[in-house]
Amino acid sequence: MPQLPEVRLTAKGWRWQRTGHPWLYRDDLAAAPGLPGGELVRVLDHQDRFLGQALYSAKSRIALRFLTYADDVVDRGFWEQRLQRAVAYRRQVVADTDAYRLIYVEADGFPGLVLDHYAGHLALQVLHPAMERLLPDIIDLLTTGLSPCSITLRNDAEVRNLEGLPLEVATVWGELPPLVEVRQGGVRQLVDLRGAQKTGLFLDQRENHLAAAAYAKGEALDCFAYQGSFALHLAPRCQRVTLVDSSAPALARAEENARLNGLDNLEPVKANVFNFLKKAVAEGQHFDVIVLDPPAFAKSRREREAAIKGYHEINRRAFQLLNPGGVLITCSCSYNLSEPDFLEVVRSAAADAHRPARLIERRGAARDHPALLALPESLYLKCFILEAL
Ligand SMILES: C[S@@+](CC[C@H](N)C(=O)[O-])C[C@H]1O[C@@H](n2cnc3c(N)ncnc32)[C@H](O)[C@@H]1O
Repeated sequence: MPQLPEVRLTAKGWRWQRTGHPWLYRDDLAAAPGLPGGELVRVLDHQDRFLGQALYSAKSRIALRFLTYADDVVDRGFWEQRLQRAVAYRRQVVADTDAYRLIYVEADGFPGLVLDHYAGHLALQVLHPAMERLLPDIIDLLTTGLSPCSITLRNDAEVRNLEGLPLEVATVWGELPPLVEVRQGGVRQLVDLRGAQKTGLFLDQRENHLAAAAYAKGEALDCFAYQGSFALHLAPRCQRVTLVDSSAPALARAEENARLNGLDNLEPVKANVFNFLKKAVAEGQHFDVIVLDPPAFAKSRREREAAIKGYHEINRRAFQLLNPGGVLITCSCSYNLSEPDFLEVVRSAAADAHRPARLIERRGAARDHPALLALPESLYLKCFILEAL
């Protein structure tokens, strides 16, 4: 085996590494390694002690992503073992669905790799140049280990730009039909793995969709509905569910999914949620259940203040719109807004709407999206279920 390149940390980098965080930033390196990027490297501390092996990026601010803290041989057997562990874990925690996340970056020991499973079809996102280099081996591993119907690269995520990787979508194995039918609990959905948002569905919300169903009643409003994953779970026990989203294709798919499930009480509205909620309050409308699941308003720390205003506004209006005893399911997927901070935004929104409320459930991402304890960035999704009194 050829000797791996070595990368030395500064004393400050070493102290940061001791916290367990698997990422090291460029200024944590004692010297530029002079590598093109995408290499597996041995990481040494400032006193030349071996710390582990990491994936190196020449472009991103995140220079190193730790892969292992041992002197393992990183070969096919190494990756095979990690894949088997990821599959075994999903067998334990995923029930009653055929759409779930199978590999979730560092939390599964695959930095820069996301793999979603949709009824036998795989959607793969490669987010690091080292994984891009390994792609032929990974595809081989997936075809032999999982016997999928197809594998599609969803490499259109903009974070690839930070690594200097091109954006592309391509089916690289098998045949992918235009739409794949999946099941979440009792709900059937058609998913476009090539063109839809994310890799097809917002799978991180999977268990929250099911949790929401327990509160279904009367008139429901699903804001930022996408293709209706919350609405479809609410609809069987509601008189009507109004879905609001700015994406016409997502709403069209929601209608198709409603028909697939024999539901005729979904009402899609193409609108900006901010405008919709403002008008609904002005018109004196009321709802028994409201879901708020916006995109990340705070994608960076700089956007935090504006994001807080946005979250406050939609939550305040939702409290104004709820009937007594009404339920609010409110989410934030902004990593830059912590759970206590989001709770504070929701609290002040309720106060400003003059609505006492009680917190019924504090939830996060589904268990197939485990957060790595040392990587707070992976603890991004918050979902509170509250009752307005
Ligand atoms: C996080 S996704 C929602 C996921 C969905 N609730 C689910 O569980 O599958 C956010 C959605 O908000 C929509 N969106 C973004 N900004 C919007 C806005 N200002 N008004 C309405 N919809 C918006 C996007 O099209 C996207 O479908």
